[in-house]
Amino acid sequence: MNVILMGPPGAGKGTQSELIKKEYSIPHISTGDMFREAVSNGTELGNEAKKYMDEGNLVPDEITIGIVKERLSQPDCQKGFMLDGFPRTKIQAEALDEALKDMNVNIQSVINFSVPKEILLERLPARVTCKDCKSVFNKKFNPSSSGNKCEKCGEELIERDDDKGETVNKRLEVYLEQTNPVLDYYEKQGILYNLDGNRSTEEVFADIQNILGSSK
Ligand code: AP5
Ligand code: MG
Ligand code: ZN
Repeated sequence: MNVILMGPPGAGKGTQSELIKKEYSIPHISTGDMFREAVSNGTELGNEAKKYMDEGNLVPDEITIGIVKERLSQPDCQKGFMLDGFPRTKIQAEALDEALKDMNVNIQSVINFSVPKEILLERLPARVTCKDCKSVFNKKFNPSSSGNKCEKCGEELIERDDDKGETVNKRLEVYLEQTNPVLDYYEKQGILYNLDGNRSTEEVFADIQNILGSSK
């Protein structure tokens, strides 16, 4: 099963990915997570990506396409994969199709979460992520039962640099300008599913299971 999750910053792509990964046992490929990992490791890729991420801009296509192709070539993607936050431009979508043709596989479903801007602006500044296991919580809507620590592993919960101040508005703007048009690309292919992401995590996941079918 090969799936793409789309939607604006804060729509719940990462949150639903955790549930999909558990249910369907496919690797979760988040370009945002890969870039953040590179930033925290201080690699050349990380230093380059950070310049764009701190501003709320997209990392250039050629860099992003390169890391996704390399990731898709890993053996664990042969049984299927889930892309979160990629593709984000039409050029990325076309490059992905080319790469998939070479691999002889297709995307079955592109699931898009819609959430009103005012809700996204409430969710993002309240997001915290576990430093170690990367579980995502929300101080307002979905707090960790262990307070300032991760309820799963006890590690510290941290805020994302790009969830602060003007960067949030910039990310939403960039989404509307550059990523929203990618939805048309998949609509034309007849594989786009639009979901109302402004409901409980469980309700949204139930719809995803209806789209993806049983894992058994
Ligand atoms: P990335 O990490 O992909 O960030 P994003 O797309 O902005 O999305 P988010 O991770 O902010 O939101 P999400 O949808 O995962 O929401 P989450 O589940 O966490 O990208 C970061 C940066 O990297 C980009 O700005 C860019 O610079 C670069 N980049 C990445 N990919 C790129 C690409 N392809 N090309 C170029 N550059 C790229 O949920 C958010 C919060 O809401 C959480 O606190 C959660 O607990 C809460 N929440 C979730 N669901 C619900 C619900 N149903 N009800 C209430 N609260 C909820
Ligand atoms: Mg995310
Ligand atoms: Zn944790």
